[in-house]
Amino acid sequence: IPVDPFDLVIFGGTGDLARRKILPALFRRFCAGQWPSDVQIVGAARRTLDDTGFRSLVSDALKEHAPKHARDRVAVEGFLSRLRYVPVEAEGPQGWEELAGLLGQNRVRAFYFSVAPRLFGPLAERIEAFGMATEKTRIVVEKPFGHDLDSARSLNATLAAHFDENQIYRIDHYLGKETVQNLMAVRFGNMLFEPLWNSQYVDHIQITVAETVGVDGRESYYDRAGAMRDMMQNHLMQLLCLIAMEPPAKFDPDAVRDEKLKVIRALDPVLPHHIVRGQFVAAEGLPGYREVVGNPRSTTESYVALRAHISNWRWAGTPFYLRTGKRLVARSSVINVMFKDAPHSIFGEDAGRHANVLSIRLQPNEGITLKVTIKEPGQGGMRLVDVPLDMSFAEALGPENQVSPDAYERLIMDVVRGNQTLFMRGDEVEAAWAWTDPIIAGWQSRGDVPKPYDCGSTGPGDAELLMKRDGRRWQGIK
Ligand code: BG6
Repeated sequence: IPVDPFDLVIFGGTGDLARRKILPALFRRFCAGQWPSDVQIVGAARRTLDDTGFRSLVSDALKEHAPKHARDRVAVEGFLSRLRYVPVEAEGPQGWEELAGLLGQNRVRAFYFSVAPRLFGPLAERIEAFGMATEKTRIVVEKPFGHDLDSARSLNATLAAHFDENQIYRIDHYLGKETVQNLMAVRFGNMLFEPLWNSQYVDHIQITVAETVGVDGRESYYDRAGAMRDMMQNHLMQLLCLIAMEPPAKFDPDAVRDEKLKVIRALDPVLPHHIVRGQFVAAEGLPGYREVVGNPRSTTESYVALRAHISNWRWAGTPFYLRTGKRLVARSSVINVMFKDAPHSIFGEDAGRHANVLSIRLQPNEGITLKVTIKEPGQGGMRLVDVPLDMSFAEALGPENQVSPDAYERLIMDVVRGNQTLFMRGDEVEAAWAWTDPIIAGWQSRGDVPKPYDCGSTGPGDAELLMKRDGRRWQGIK
């Protein structure tokens, strides 16, 4: 569905995120015919460039990051012709008059802050001072949104001094992933699951975000952040919220975000012996973490696994096990809802444990699988096996639905449409930090050193123990 005409200004328009994600996403939406004809994308950054220079930089970025679409020269030319560039001084006066002069009247203006958070304030001030703030102005900010509760509060206050909350779009790109939204459709669009979605029927829930990539190219940011701040506080927390929240009264931004916030606020503090930190070491020809970041004494975690509890009526007594790490054996993001065993097996002890598992796979091969128990065909007697009831979207919906838009495509278009449902509200981010901060402070005060794990493994052995102690085990990563 085409959107209304808009102007999008990307501060940090020549930066890594713009080249890797934002511009390719805009280009793919352009190719999908979702733009009206007079959209304008303005790159704004410190670098001295003109429109032609910027277009050539973007053209290279498209070849690298949207290679399939970039083969269509006509489309590339059409897209590039919508691009402008203005050299802008974030903390000075240069470029702002020119930028203001480029923007159309009476249409959506989105300002994408793809810059260091310390520049949020200076940019917001200038947008207002140069008359660019209108009712249709929207601000898009990226993570990291602060590095602790205090810094997140101060960023929120800075933005709130210039814009209303309904103009601020805090991106967590996990919310833009197709299956994440499908999770809500499955939970709240079916009668089948919701009655069982509680501690009475669910034994525990596992959320795994495993990555094969390391931290190359982002060493200095990552060594200050670690997996807890980089992934757990935001992406895994958002997945936890969507899986655990109460049904919102409607699918509208504040109704959904109110319910997510209640989940975060109901989280218990995590006990030290319910957390395992890890750091990858050299294996399979790959260098270890400390080597990569050039800090031989770094105690930053590249892996974290923990057991969380939500103290509310629905989830009391059901643990949530969350883990994420880099340089693991496979790239795999999956949520497993592990149902309890049937209360009594009529097939006797030999039949074993056959609890149902609902697996929600975010990537790769997005889809939802329900493991159910059936009789093994052909065998004499009642031998039971578990088979998947597969809801692989691509197969079920046909080839035309095999390519779902990338998370950034969806989220940027939602900004243009003015739909905040898949963006984090300020109070949510703060609540997530309020839960994360004591965990990190605990490590610091105890001088905690992460456990080593080999590149290409499933993470530190202690993460297995975390489960084993509870008589459970992780579902395989591969
Ligand atoms: C980013 C993190 O937010 O998400 C990265 O900063 C991580 O460290 C990335 O690699 C993972 O995103 P995806 O979409 O590849 O799972």
